[in-house]
Amino acid sequence: MDKTAKTTYPINDLATNRWSPRAFLKKPVEQEKLVSLFEAARWSASGGNEQPWRFIAGQKPDDTWDKIYSALNEGNQPWNQDVPVLLVACGNRISSWDGGVSPFFQYDVGQAVAHLSIEAQSQGLFVHQMGGFSPGKIRELFEIPGDFEALTVIAVGYRGDPDTLPENLKQRELQERSRKPLTEIVFSGKFGKTSEII
Ligand SMILES: Cc1cc2nc3c(=O)[nH]c(=O)nc-3n(C[C@H](O)[C@H](O)[C@H](O)COP(=O)(O)O)c2cc1C
Repeated sequence: MDKTAKTTYPINDLATNRWSPRAFLKKPVEQEKLVSLFEAARWSASGGNEQPWRFIAGQKPDDTWDKIYSALNEGNQPWNQDVPVLLVACGNRISSWDGGVSPFFQYDVGQAVAHLSIEAQSQGLFVHQMGGFSPGKIRELFEIPGDFEALTVIAVGYRGDPDTLPENLKQRELQERSRKPLTEIVFSGKFGKTSEII
């Protein structure tokens, strides 16, 4: 199974080899690796250096893991059963500059999770982000204050055997990865006009 990105232009190996598996080993993640993931997120850039990210971390079989798992939707629960680490990425909606809603908090948290994902890759780990969960249930279970929002759940662990997945998910696991071409996403002159850089 080759999930390596078939890039048009060369990029670094961590980005080429990152992808989002659903088959994970039961093997726990070493604490020294986990702290490096959070450290990478911590040093991410953010609007006004607000650092709106917060993470709730559960390690199977602790109570935090159980609570996060219980908030996953029906599509995500089956393949998360063996995932050793589940995180919730939360963001502070409120800007300390003016007390209003920050226009950047989701962008900032997403960027921190991107850094965490690349650090995971460098540690031999894989990450699978999920929007399929109940933010309301997470708020209730973890008593998340009103200024904060649960934005994604993140599975972290070592890659497992696709044969352990139900058939439909196994097919997706083996599928080649695809992306829009650069001609559709990089513009110059006006929006929609492919840049001459490409
Ligand atoms: C914000 C976000 C939400 C996602 N939600 C889910 C989800 O609920 N369930 C799931 O199986 N994958 C989810 N994914 C994974 C994407 O489907 C996956 O990243 C995308 O298909 C690209 O595949 P790749 O990460 O392997 O390159 C999500 C990814 C992101 C970034």
